[in-house]
Amino acid sequence: MHMTLLEEFEEFLNSHLLSTESFHPHFNEAYRKMFGAGGKRFRPLLLLGTLRAINPLLVRNAMYAALALEMIHTYSLIHDDLPAMDNAPLRRGVDTLHVTYDEVTAILIADALNTDAFLILSQMPIDDKSKTTLCAILAKNAGSGGMVLGQALDCFFERKPLDEEQLIFLHKHKTARLIAAAIQMGAVIGGSDVKTQNELYDFGLELGLLFQIHDDIIDATKSSSEAGKPTHNDTDKNSFVNLLGLREATKRRDDKINELKKRSEGFGDKLEAHFVKILNNSFK
Ligand code: IPE
Ligand code: IPE
Ligand code: MG
Ligand code: MG
Ligand code: MG
Repeated sequence: MHMTLLEEFEEFLNSHLLSTESFHPHFNEAYRKMFGAGGKRFRPLLLLGTLRAINPLLVRNAMYAALALEMIHTYSLIHDDLPAMDNAPLRRGVDTLHVTYDEVTAILIADALNTDAFLILSQMPIDDKSKTTLCAILAKNAGSGGMVLGQALDCFFERKPLDEEQLIFLHKHKTARLIAAAIQMGAVIGGSDVKTQNELYDFGLELGLLFQIHDDIIDATKSSSEAGKPTHNDTDKNSFVNLLGLREATKRRDDKINELKKRSEGFGDKLEAHFVKILNNSFK
């Protein structure tokens, strides 16, 4: 039977997420809970789809990298929802970890995912040089030069409106770098030359900005049951909707979709088809 990339990823995730023997009453359950709740798997599918367009034979081994990326993303959501950050009781349609268990559990499970991601990546069957490169891309875009810096800016500048250049800097770090990393990791595993890797990374940054503009529009326009997380929750934030207004943010989103469709033409037929599909399906 032919499995979709998503089905293959889910199977890999279920069989490779760690489970630890101990007498802690709910550690393992908490560790898996946010994965079991779903999520779009946008980043792993982006990595795997990019790679499949370059060289489909390598997809199976790349599941390690895709899982590592989803683990980093999931840890970032668990921390993002904590009372000290966005104080959100709902994620992926279920209670957040600090609500189900307590803050200590949420903080530590996320810490574990952040660390274990690199253990999973270290187990990937690929040459050591590529593995080191993948490690560096993931760390660079998730850590102090990436998502964490973006989250720090997002939280520090609540109720302090930024200008447009700062807004873009914030969201580029908070969201776009990890999304760009997904594409770049796919290109590295596929053996693309460095120039192509960098062009794909830059394309990924724009796709990531589009992703966050759309996420901010979701906050302003959807119900929490549609979104699976609290909405109308960005009032104090430097969101695209708050800074530009809903109309202008929506226009930016739609313009960016068209701009990126055009830009995908430069990557060859297979990658173009992969990106156009994402652009058509992910931002409704
Ligand atoms: C939410 O990410 C956080 C942002 C970076 C906007 P996703 O929208 O990918 O969340 P899941 O993984 O589908 O739950
Ligand atoms: C969070 O952005 C991005 C992360 C790095 C986790 P948001 O705070 O807008 O994400 P949601 O809306 O809670 O998913
Ligand atoms: Mg947030
Ligand atoms: Mg949030
Ligand atoms: Mg949001």
